Amino acid sequence: MSEKKAGICFDAERAASYDQRFVKLGAMKDGLHLCMRQAMEDLPEDAHILCVGAGTGAEIMYLAREFPGWRFTAADPSAAMLEVCRRHAAEHGIEDRIDIRVGYLDALPDLGLFDAATCLLVSHFLTNKDERRDLFKQIRARLKPGGTLISADIAGDTQSKTYPALFNYWLNAMRFAGSTDEDIEGYVERFREHVAPLPPAELGALIESAGFETPVLIYQALMMHGFAAKRAE
Ligand SMILES: C[S@@+](CC[C@H](N)C(=O)[O-])C[C@H]1O[C@@H](n2cnc3c(N)ncnc32)[C@H](O)[C@@H]1O
Repeated sequence: MSEKKAGICFDAERAASYDQRFVKLGAMKDGLHLCMRQAMEDLPEDAHILCVGAGTGAEIMYLAREFPGWRFTAADPSAAMLEVCRRHAAEHGIEDRIDIRVGYLDALPDLGLFDAATCLLVSHFLTNKDERRDLFKQIRARLKPGGTLISADIAGDTQSKTYPALFNYWLNAMRFAGSTDEDIEGYVERFREHVAPLPPAELGALIESAGFETPVLIYQALMMHGFAAKRAE
């Protein structure tokens, strides 16, 4: 059975505006990518990377430029997001280095084992913890022994005294990116229903419980948290 769909639908409309929507917050993602690559330095020159929830392919375009020998498999249930990814790949001249697969990970055929996987800004949409762990387990099953996982999520301890301020700063970032008050109202509603922020330590423990070792918090920008971990044997 295919894993649960994210509540937020990445349809054609969202896909068309996705890159543009967050352009003013580009530095946050740039920082994530920069830290991600430090945790991928030990990979072979001809590494094959599985990008789960690749969306429009921002992480792929970055890594492809930094590591010219790497190949990528972009997996995502949204055909519309992957269509934009395909266009970006053509613009970057990397079509022959990327295999695009529409579908949830558990519905994809055997694609061999990968040296590393990225799962950026995806798992927070899985509001059921078991399904979230299952996604990480599925990623683990597609990695070589000792393979690297880079995961990034919207995270925060909703029970902590500081959370309301953190969430407020996050909303300020959305306003800065161009959201109107009305957009923010809709965003908060969707966030409450479809996003599951976990305390960062709990997120690390969840990744570990899916069969990874030493999940290291490699990045934080407001609520965006990045982890690097290795497949445990
Ligand atoms: C916020 S976008 C992130 C895209 C890209 N990784 C980035 O950092 O820009 C989330 C993506 O995850 C995909 N997605 C949602 N649920 C998923 C799931 N269960 N497995 C894989 N991808 C999923 C969506 O279709 C969407 O393209």
